Amino acid sequence: MGRLQKLPPYLFAALDAAKRKARESGVAVVDLGIGDPDRPTPPELIRVMAEAIADPACHRYPAQRGDAGLRQAIADWLLRRHGVAVDPATQVLVLLGSKEGLAHLPVTCVQEGDNALVPDIGYPVYGQATILAGGEPRVFRLRAEAGFLPELDELAALMDDRTRLLFLNYPNNPTGATAGPAFWRDVADLCARRGVTLVNDAAYLEMSLDGGTQPCLLGTADPARERVIELHSLSKMFNMTGWRVAFAVGHPELIEALGRVKDTMDSGVFTAIQRTAAYALGPEFDRLLAGVAAPYGARREKLVAGLTAAGWEIFPAKATFYVWCRVPTAETSAAFCQRALAEIGVVLTPGTGFGTGGEGWFRLSLTASEADLEEGARRLAAWR
Ligand SMILES: Cc1ncc(COP(=O)(O)O)c(C=O)c1O
Repeated sequence: MGRLQKLPPYLFAALDAAKRKARESGVAVVDLGIGDPDRPTPPELIRVMAEAIADPACHRYPAQRGDAGLRQAIADWLLRRHGVAVDPATQVLVLLGSKEGLAHLPVTCVQEGDNALVPDIGYPVYGQATILAGGEPRVFRLRAEAGFLPELDELAALMDDRTRLLFLNYPNNPTGATAGPAFWRDVADLCARRGVTLVNDAAYLEMSLDGGTQPCLLGTADPARERVIELHSLSKMFNMTGWRVAFAVGHPELIEALGRVKDTMDSGVFTAIQRTAAYALGPEFDRLLAGVAAPYGARREKLVAGLTAAGWEIFPAKATFYVWCRVPTAETSAAFCQRALAEIGVVLTPGTGFGTGGEGWFRLSLTASEADLEEGARRLAAWR
């Protein structure tokens, strides 16, 4: 079978079709499915971008692996925010979104017959990119009883001498689970013992619901010595999902390998966007982030209060803008979500969109207006 044929069907395409059909038949749909910020990029960043876009120096090919100014801003930000010191020249790589970096990582190290460990429940890109590189994704479970963290014994049992990568994602989409320093130490030690590269997808790291910071992998493992790489993104941090800018930070050999793959695949991020990203990560970072992240905590509290009062069970998350909820009926999560759309016009994401481990759960996203969230909560609480 060809690699393309091995890719599993994309569940979200079916969901989109059902959503369109409901809208066409006149249903006032409340979309709590998609994880894409409803609010605009902060005006201050738009102004920086507008200035940059007028500068002819930005109109030429960008610095392929990232502007020196942005890489320095990233290194300064990491030190200030997470206490991590890295060399911006050799340990930082600018990406066209973290999805792009995740998708290209397996190309750097996965050969036919190799495997990568991917979470089930998880963002589908890890496994699909492994397949496209010719490798085999081996799934490990994330269970509610373990706080949706993997069990190290299970990871160790899945690893063999063809295991190249372990993909993790904390703070986690879709569960909202977070990982602490003790977990990071244990999993980094396991990977070091087994010669496996440890990847953390940190796309939601700054989306803390209480305004605090979450521990990242690089806060524990030393990327100068250990084969670790972490991917950060401005997409959710600054309501910039459409802009496409993110960055990888890690061991110099991993950064060099990913940079080499990307040298063939793309020509870097638009310089005006890189300048805006450098500004966003600079001295104004805390204030800008507070403006973006602030609504989610309050939105979550309201939604969770409504659903809990209706007797629904919700995983207590500390970060991300997702609410992970147990299916309150005996249906499959897909059947439950289809019925929610058909009967009350509320779009939910079935847990099985993230793998079979998501059965029995569904995800709500807080990236909808306050009015939509209120209306969605009202419809859901009155329904079953
Ligand atoms: C877990 C996870 N990782 C990565 C991404 C991709 O983000 P980016 O916009 O940086 O490509 C997403 C997007 O939804 C995500 O949910």
